[in-house]
Amino acid sequence: MERKHFLTLGAGLTMGSLMGKNPMAHEAHNSQDQHQSWINRWREHDAPLPVTPDAHAPEMDGPYWDFLRGLFPLNPKITFLNNGTMGITPLPVLDALDKSFRNLAENAAYPMHDGSFEEQLARIVGCKGSELAITKNVSEGVNLACRAIQLSRGDEVIITRHEHVGGCAIWLYRAKTEGIVLKVIDLGSTAEETLQRVKEAKTNKTKVVALPHIPCTIGQVLPIKEICAWARANKIISAIDGAHPLGMIQFNLKDLGCDYYSGCFHKWLLGPIGTGFFFASEAILPQSIIHHVAAYSVDTFNMSTVPPAVGELVPKTARYSYGTFPGPMYDGAKAAMKFYLSIGPELIEKRVKHLSKMLMDGLMERNNRAKGPNGSDPNVAGKPPVMWKMHNSQGPIMQILTPLEDISRGAQVGFIIKGLKENTATQTPTNPSNTTPAKPPTASQRFCDYARKNNVILRYVAENDIHCVRVSTHYYNNLKDLQAFFDVLDAFMKEEGWY
Ligand SMILES: Cc1ncc(COP(=O)(O)O)c(C=O)c1O
Repeated sequence: MERKHFLTLGAGLTMGSLMGKNPMAHEAHNSQDQHQSWINRWREHDAPLPVTPDAHAPEMDGPYWDFLRGLFPLNPKITFLNNGTMGITPLPVLDALDKSFRNLAENAAYPMHDGSFEEQLARIVGCKGSELAITKNVSEGVNLACRAIQLSRGDEVIITRHEHVGGCAIWLYRAKTEGIVLKVIDLGSTAEETLQRVKEAKTNKTKVVALPHIPCTIGQVLPIKEICAWARANKIISAIDGAHPLGMIQFNLKDLGCDYYSGCFHKWLLGPIGTGFFFASEAILPQSIIHHVAAYSVDTFNMSTVPPAVGELVPKTARYSYGTFPGPMYDGAKAAMKFYLSIGPELIEKRVKHLSKMLMDGLMERNNRAKGPNGSDPNVAGKPPVMWKMHNSQGPIMQILTPLEDISRGAQVGFIIKGLKENTATQTPTNPSNTTPAKPPTASQRFCDYARKNNVILRYVAENDIHCVRVSTHYYNNLKDLQAFFDVLDAFMKEEGWY
């Protein structure tokens, strides 16, 4: 793969030392020691990061971001731009997991579910600890919310075309088995337009809006606060899939005003895999149906009385998390929350949005200077070149699906590569006994496969006929990662015949 340099690397890009690229092994060692000694102090005494962010910290690489990157033991051969699927675990979280699992093994310390975890999370997401339950992932929270709502045949639920299977499968299942009706809307290219589409989908049978705060497909940030306010005013329940916001953008559940919200720690908060949370507001809890009841769900039980007796459901959302508590995993999630606060939610949001903007700018720049096949002008003859500034505008070689509008943007960019080779590809059945021709892979899919072969990890969004490439940029990503992405993109486009 040809390596070009379209991005200027920040002056202090020295992460190679910790990532094993520095030929001076002892320096790498020192760096690791520096990180471990900071973690030891931080774990016990809340030590601040040893490097202070300067005024330009979110915009460029430098000692601050290099130090943080050094806390991620990611294989240096990998350029990881798929945080939207799974966050990579930083050392402070691994350290907390190790300590907690060891404590359990060495001291037989049964993990008590004492509510302190929910209290810590509540301070970040802006609700009461009593409105939170722990889950193992977002899908579990979405299922709890969906099953908590009493619905009858013909009742309508507004949902989007951009759902993840974890955000929609249970709604689809209830539609299939109980006859509730899903009204599927497309996203608008602005927050205003999306709000409008939700409003237009309402009928007198609408009972629920079940929407993602940030869909997995193109990372657009939906105007959830406005949608929930409208829903409340219309006596419609809001059940929000919050897989992505925690750790990426700042939000406050009271301010959003939703009834149910399901999130996780294993994406942008960089917590342990398999840790999530479920919010049910104190107003909606009394009318919420519960299906699983065990320890922590009810206050008392007694099988020796006649008849045997059960007490009351505990008056908090924690009733939804029952049985033995995976304490060490949640100690890891606690460390992830503490680490997130040590860096600062505002700074993280600025940084991730800045990196995704750089990515968009790089894509637009390529589109605007693109030549067509064999050097021809890819733009329509006689017309000025298409300058690709707007969301969803059709450039000659690509199309960005994520809005440019600041309030609708987070840390992910979805785009489609137009395939010169697509139209001519032969349709080869993958199975000789299957006479249905297999669809040839789209250019976007081929690009994701090509990138993976070059150790650049992206997400191909095959769902719901969207067929785009999704690039996630977290704060640990740096200009070098963006460079690796553009290098692999340029090499692919060249092979495709675009330039
Ligand atoms: C928007 C959205 N909802 C739900 C899920 C499912 O999350 P989990 O795997 O934690 O259940 C995902 C996962 O990527 C997602 O992106």
